[in-house]
Amino acid sequence: MSAKIIDGKAMAMEIRQEIKKQVEELAQKNIKPGLAVVLVGNDPASQIYVRGKEKACSEVGIASETIRLPEDTSESELLNLISGLNSRQDVHGILVQLPLPKHIDSDKIIRSIVPEKDVDGFHPINVGKLVLGLPGVKPCTPYGCLKMLQKYEIAIEGKKAVVIGRSNIVGKPVALMLLQENATVSICHSRTKELSEYTKEADILIAAAGKPFLIKPDMVKPGAAVIDVGQNKLPDGKLVGDVDFTGVSQVAGWITPVPGGVGPMTIAMLLYNTLESAKRLC
Ligand code: GUN
Repeated sequence: MSAKIIDGKAMAMEIRQEIKKQVEELAQKNIKPGLAVVLVGNDPASQIYVRGKEKACSEVGIASETIRLPEDTSESELLNLISGLNSRQDVHGILVQLPLPKHIDSDKIIRSIVPEKDVDGFHPINVGKLVLGLPGVKPCTPYGCLKMLQKYEIAIEGKKAVVIGRSNIVGKPVALMLLQENATVSICHSRTKELSEYTKEADILIAAAGKPFLIKPDMVKPGAAVIDVGQNKLPDGKLVGDVDFTGVSQVAGWITPVPGGVGPMTIAMLLYNTLESAKRLC
């Protein structure tokens, strides 16, 4: 069996086209959605992500402003900056790139962003809405995963979904979204014993562990949908996911590639959240 490839890149392009159209419509009402991205320090992966976000914004007509701060920026300096962005009329979305340097309390920073401009969906108010199944800003990567399942008409209701990874950015929110769609959800993590006993049962398998080649073909149920959220850099510089793509694509029914799967969808959903935030605030 050879899995269908879930083409995140093509899907993201379609979404971006639609966003561009809506941004043009807003321009007629003199509204220009604006995103402020804050990057503290020199983490190389974060720099690449932030550049990708800037480029994507400019392509769809969203005004983006990246504030690059040195590694030794203090927590109070960052809080002051965010307070200014919270009250700016031209900024509809605020994203503080994670991870932050160790001397800064990330939770405190996230809580300082007004929930209405929290385009990451990380503020406790937005997380709470997700838990309660209320409308709110949804985190970009999990939202992208859900959109891919829906676009490819992969059934979720009543299916067994297994999420590997329990991060606040991906694992926990994607599990909640799948639960909201009536899947039966298990969350596995680094302390889970006999991981493959869970994965082999999964109709939908979301790999977000950050471990290259963690998911081998013998761990996957034939015909399953496998969504690979991993972004791992090998010593030779090659980008790979958490899934052994070549092997698993012989067993799975659907699979996302890395690169070209979840990554582009994350950015597309960030643009979507920024657009929606501008519509709500203006
Ligand atoms: N670092 C890795 N992924 C993300 C993300 O989705 N948002 C932010 N703010 N930082 C990240």
